[in-house]
This record gives sequence, structure tokens and C-alpha cells, in this order.
Amino acid sequence: MTLLLEHADYGHLLPAAHGLLEQHADATKAHLVATGAAMEALAKKFGGDTQTWKVAGMLHDLDWDQLDKDYEAHCGDTLDNLLKTIDAPAELLGDIRAHYQAKYGEDYPLDTQLRKCLYCVDELTGFIIAVTLVRPSKAIADVEVKSVKKKLKDKGFAAQVDRAQIGACTELLDMELDEFIQITLDAMKGVADDLGL
Ligand SMILES: [Fe+2]
Repeated sequence: MTLLLEHADYGHLLPAAHGLLEQHADATKAHLVATGAAMEALAKKFGGDTQTWKVAGMLHDLDWDQLDKDYEAHCGDTLDNLLKTIDAPAELLGDIRAHYQAKYGEDYPLDTQLRKCLYCVDELTGFIIAVTLVRPSKAIADVEVKSVKKKLKDKGFAAQVDRAQIGACTELLDMELDEFIQITLDAMKGVADDLGL
């Protein structure tokens, strides 16, 4: 299979991405920091450019806190305008839109490893934060792969999280769920202080 845009290269935007998070992310900030760290770890695993993948993870929901839960507007003009303030290349917007397959899948297919990883890990980082917050210690250091897997099977827990999107790692990334959770969890533990967890 030929992967298009496999050499996405906008890692030079990392300092600017940090600035955007500070300015525009509030409730979503922990999720974005977590996803950035996870994408960096996945880039190491799959041989992607670590800074580029991190930027995609950090900025993928940058518009969310301004949309008043209007999911239809997600990844639209608000995001485009924010990215323009840092002169981001079109490929960053495309990589971000690809994580919203229900709306943008036709124009921005999951045709690169970066896009596939972002799509699968997006739901997982949010889920791991939810799992951490119900632990007595509320410390991510106490969370293990098996506790994440157990909660994934509990359909009533964090019911809005799309389990199929996380589980798609086996097909899209050819990676077992256990390893996918382990890499993501370890990456999040590495930025525990930034996450406040
Ligand atoms: Fe997200």
C-alpha cells in the first residue's frame, strides 16, 4: 500500500504550537498535551518525525474550547484561522481534519501513518484521563494497561468514547491493543505534571 504525504514536515511549528495551546486551550488543554506526547511516542515507534507528529497531536482539537460543543463546526473555519496565525502549511490542517472522519473522511482519508495514529489515539488519551480521574489517587502513575482495558469493556464508563476508534489500532496500525495502550499510557506518564495527573 502506498502512503501519501508520509513525509509530513511541520515540526518547526512546535514552539508556536505551545504558544497556541497557552492562548486558546482551556478545558481541552490536558487532552491536547496528552495527545501530543502520545503522538511523539508513536512517531518514535513508527519512524515518523517526532516533532511533526507532536504538533498534530497538540493542535488537533485547538478549536474545541471556542465551539460551544458545536461538533459540526469542529476542524472548520475557527481552526483554519487559528492555524493561519502561525503560518501552518495546508498539510497540518489536512492531517487534523482526517481525525474527524465522519465529516472529512472523503477529502482527508486515513492514508498516512500519522493520520491513522492520530485517529486511533485521540479517543484513547481522553479515555485514559477519565480512567485516571476515577482512581482514589487521581494519579496516572497508578494506572496500568489492564485497568484501562477493564474500563474499555465497561460500556457504561465514559460511554461517549468510541471504543471502535481505539480498537482500530489492530487493523490500521497492525498493533495489538495492549501495546497501543502501553505506549500511550507511558507517554502520558512522562508528562504527568503538565497533565496535572
Ligand atoms: Fe481529540
